Amino acid sequence: MKIISDIGELRDQLRGQNRASFVPTMGNLHEGHLSLMRLARQHGDPVVASIFVNRLQFGPNEDFDSYPRTMQADIEKLEKEGVYVLFAPTEKDLYPQPQEYRVEPPNQLGNILEGEFRPGFFQGVCTVVLKLFSCVQPKVAVFGKKDYQQLMIIRQMAKQFALPVDIVPAETIRAEDGLALSSRNTYLSIDERREAPELQKLLQQVREQVIGLKQQSPEELKKIEAGALETLTKRGWRPDYIAIRLQSDLATPSNTALDAKESLVILTAAKLGKTRLIDNLEI
Ligand code: PAJ
Repeated sequence: MKIISDIGELRDQLRGQNRASFVPTMGNLHEGHLSLMRLARQHGDPVVASIFVNRLQFGPNEDFDSYPRTMQADIEKLEKEGVYVLFAPTEKDLYPQPQEYRVEPPNQLGNILEGEFRPGFFQGVCTVVLKLFSCVQPKVAVFGKKDYQQLMIIRQMAKQFALPVDIVPAETIRAEDGLALSSRNTYLSIDERREAPELQKLLQQVREQVIGLKQQSPEELKKIEAGALETLTKRGWRPDYIAIRLQSDLATPSNTALDAKESLVILTAAKLGKTRLIDNLEI
């Protein structure tokens, strides 16, 4: 595997490759990330991965400084997956000047749910992903459904800018007890780690409740959301949101959408101690 930090060198290395399959990450790689590498392999060749902890997508009080950085272990994992190039730029490589041109996703997608609780987050994500795409120029890029809203926003960005890249979604990889794998799980204490799978269990209960409704309506969905928030709070979590939304655009389902049996997804973010976990479940 070639490990490259310089954009020019990356271009030289990838010159003439027009089927590259790309997996952007922030490192501290786990089985979820590695499943994306395997999926990328099925969609193109060579597989290019990136590791870059992107300051632009962290808020001032978020965990940019403490975000786990495990480059040596990550390199070994990527070697085993047969990744051809690891692009691991420093901040100076990727942002030699302050990144003043930014990509602003539309309000109705970028400022709801995660975007409401992490202002500027999706602007930071879109800006770095567009820049990484421009460096790697992949044919295909793989993103996990674990970050459901991120996947949707990147897809829309690629579509609206007519980027020549296919966005491929990957299923969420979980621990045996149901907890979605995440680099931030390393922040959990032993007790918190024991409690953490409750988040996915709750989403499954919400799904059962929604499926069990005789007549779905926005009001009934609101009641279910409120009940779930209360359950989490009682267990000692500090939930940011639990929201039942349309899969198509993450909007709050209207009566018309519910009558048309449009597909729904439940999304949540909640803090357990100092760790903020997110998860989702399609209905
Ligand atoms: P990061 O959190 O490192 O995630 C990199 C990719 O791995 C994302 O597409 C994410 O959805 C996926 N992923 C994370 N956990 C997963 C799991 N348990 N199962 C399947 N896929 C999983 O997301 C980012 O980095 C950044 O925002 C990035 C897109 C790299 C831009 O900086």
